Amino acid sequence: MGGKIAPSMMCADFLHLEKDIREFEKLNIEYLHIDIMDGSFVPNYTLGTDYVRNLKEVTNIPLDIHLMIERPEDKLDWFCFGENDYVSFHIESTNHAHRVISGIKNRGAKAMLALNPATPLCVLEDVICDLDAVLIMTVNPGFAGQKLVPQTIEKIKRLRKMYPDVEIEVDGNVSFENAIIMRNAGADIFVAGSSSIFAQPKNIDFNAKKLRDCIKAPL
Ligand code: DX5
Ligand code: ZN
Repeated sequence: MGGKIAPSMMCADFLHLEKDIREFEKLNIEYLHIDIMDGSFVPNYTLGTDYVRNLKEVTNIPLDIHLMIERPEDKLDWFCFGENDYVSFHIESTNHAHRVISGIKNRGAKAMLALNPATPLCVLEDVICDLDAVLIMTVNPGFAGQKLVPQTIEKIKRLRKMYPDVEIEVDGNVSFENAIIMRNAGADIFVAGSSSIFAQPKNIDFNAKKLRDCIKAPL
């Protein structure tokens, strides 16, 4: 089975959002990646709680909510999510990772733990058994259009070797070229932003098919 695509909705065209979503539905896109930023954990704000709620109302594509916020354990009820959705949070943003994982799963969603580029894989040791996926940040979180942190490719390979069955998502500068390298390293879900599916000149159908081709290799 090939890799899964999660368009980064912070890069979407706000003036044609519904058109893009209907195109994603036709393309069988697996998730919509929604970056939530609080201006504290990362130096930026992007999409918010109403955006998540509205998206849930207009499409059945599962959401992949990426919480780049301090103390996610206090804020899960702010967001609308449920079965088939992924919710990821950063190990660096809380002292209570196990509590957040339980909170996400008790609300019916799948739990994904996100690691910044400098965070070592050993943090997974005592929670991997509770996780549905791991998110390897391949850029420093907060902004679209950044360049890949090179050593994150080896990190994906090590993660795949350590935990052969874990689902791995990659987020940041997932260009067509990088997606091939990331897939070969062991990635399953590809957050596609300005580097691929939303690359200019805009052509979602063409870009999605090109990205699908880059990640079709079996693991
Ligand atoms: C980074 C964001 C991303 C991503 C956007 O914090 O989470 O969604 O970088 O895609 P690119 O990197 O291709 O612009
Ligand atoms: Zn993200």
